[in-house]
Amino acid sequence: MWSIKFIVVFVLFVSSSALPHTNILKNNPVLTSDEDAYLTVPELITKYGYPVEEHHVTTSDGYILTLHRIPHGKNSDTVSDRVVFLQHGLLCSSADWIITGPTHGLGYLLADEGYDVWMGNGRGNHQSRNHTSLDPDKDSAFWQFSWHEIGAIDVPTMIDHVLEVTGQTSLYHIGHSQGTTTFYVMTSMHPEYNAKVKAHFSLAPVAFMNHMTSPLMHILAFWSGPIDLLAQLIGINEFLPNNEFMAMVGDVLCADDDITQFLCTNALFAICGFSPNEMNATILPVLTGHTPAGASVNQLMHYAQEINSGTFRQFDFGLENLDKYGSLTPPPYDLDLITTPIYLLYSHNDWMAGEVDVVKLYEKLGDTCEGKFLIADGAFNHLDYLYGIQAPELVYNKVISLMARH
Ligand SMILES: *[C@@H]1O[C@H](CO)[C@@H](O)[C@H](O)[C@H]1NC(C)=O
Ligand SMILES: *[C@@H]1O[C@H](CO)[C@@H](O)[C@H](O)[C@H]1NC(C)=O
Repeated sequence: MWSIKFIVVFVLFVSSSALPHTNILKNNPVLTSDEDAYLTVPELITKYGYPVEEHHVTTSDGYILTLHRIPHGKNSDTVSDRVVFLQHGLLCSSADWIITGPTHGLGYLLADEGYDVWMGNGRGNHQSRNHTSLDPDKDSAFWQFSWHEIGAIDVPTMIDHVLEVTGQTSLYHIGHSQGTTTFYVMTSMHPEYNAKVKAHFSLAPVAFMNHMTSPLMHILAFWSGPIDLLAQLIGINEFLPNNEFMAMVGDVLCADDDITQFLCTNALFAICGFSPNEMNATILPVLTGHTPAGASVNQLMHYAQEINSGTFRQFDFGLENLDKYGSLTPPPYDLDLITTPIYLLYSHNDWMAGEVDVVKLYEKLGDTCEGKFLIADGAFNHLDYLYGIQAPELVYNKVISLMARH
C-alpha cells in the first residue's frame, strides 16, 4: 500500500516543479528566527570570522559558475600552497560545506588545517544559475544538461581557474555524492586532469547505482519513461519541487516530530534519506535557506538510467544516440583511464551509494584506488557526510590524515 502512495506522491513531486514557488521561510515562524537562513555563503563565512572570496568562471558553453574560497584559517594570515577543491552533490551547493558552522563544516576545518579551500558549484544550482546568453527562467535550452556536462566541462573549468589563481600545478579534490560522479566523468573523459589532482577523496561514491535503496529514486527509475514524457509535456526542465507540496508529502509519509517533519519535507532528504540522530537541530534553519539548491531534471534522469542499466555511462538519448554517439547505446566511462590516487569512504546505511556498488567501483578502479573505508557507524547515511554530528570524527579526520600522505 505504501508503494502506491509513494508512486502517486513522486509523480506529483516531479510535476510540482511546475507550480509557483513561495519562500517556505515566510510561513514558518520557527525557521525564520535564525538570521543564518538568509545569509549568503560569503556572508556566513564572514560572520564566523573566516576570510572569503567569490570567483566567477565562464565555461566553453557559456555557463557562468560561482566558486567560493576560504584562503586560510583563523590561526594564520598566509595562504598555503596546499590547495583543496570541494565539489558538492546533487541538489547541493558550496553552502553545504560550511552550513554546520566552524566546529563541523569541512570547509572551515580544512582552512584551519592550513589548506587553501575552494568550493565549486555545478551549472544549474542557485549559485551557478546564470549564462552568457541563455535565461534559466525562459530558455529550456539552459537546462539541457546532466551531471555529464558538470563533470566533463564545469569541474575541469573550475579546477583550471583555481590552479591559475593559486599558481599551483595540482590540488586535492574532495567530492560528495554527485561530486564523486563528476570526478570520475572528468578524469575518464579528460585523462590529462589526472595529473592536476594529487589525490581524490570520494565521500559516498556514486558511479554504479543498481544497488541503491532510495525509494524515491527507485520509483523514478521505474517510471523514468512516463516521468520524462510528463516533464517534457509540461515543460519542466528544472527540478525544483514546490514547498507547499512537500509539506503535504510530510503530512502523509512522515512521523510527527519536528526534525523528521523538516527532513522529510525537504526534497534533498526525501530522496537521499536521513538519520534524525545525526541531525543537529540548530542547523535546520540554515539548511532551509540553502537546500535543495536546484538541479536539472536530466541530472535525476541520468541517475535513473544508471539504476536501470547497471552501467556507468553517458546520458541515454534513446533514438538520438546514433546521432550523438554513433552507437545505439551510450558509451561507458572508461575507468581504466583514471590514474589519480583515490580513496573511497562509504557506509552501510547509505541510500544512494550502496555498499555493493561501491565495492564494484573499487574493483573496477584497480590499483589507482588506494583504499576503501567503511564508516564505523552502521547508521551513517548519505547526507551525514555533510551535516552529520559525527562527520568530523568519522569522516573528516580520516580524510585530513590521508591527505597528508600526498
Ligand atoms: C550543533 O550546531 C551548533 C552550531 O554549529 C554547534 O555549536 C554545536 O556544537 C552542534 N551540536 C552538536 C551536538 O554537534
Ligand atoms: C549573470 O552574469 C552576468 C554577466 O556576467 C552578470 O552581469 C549578472 O549580474 C549575472 N546575474 C546573476 C543573477 O548573477
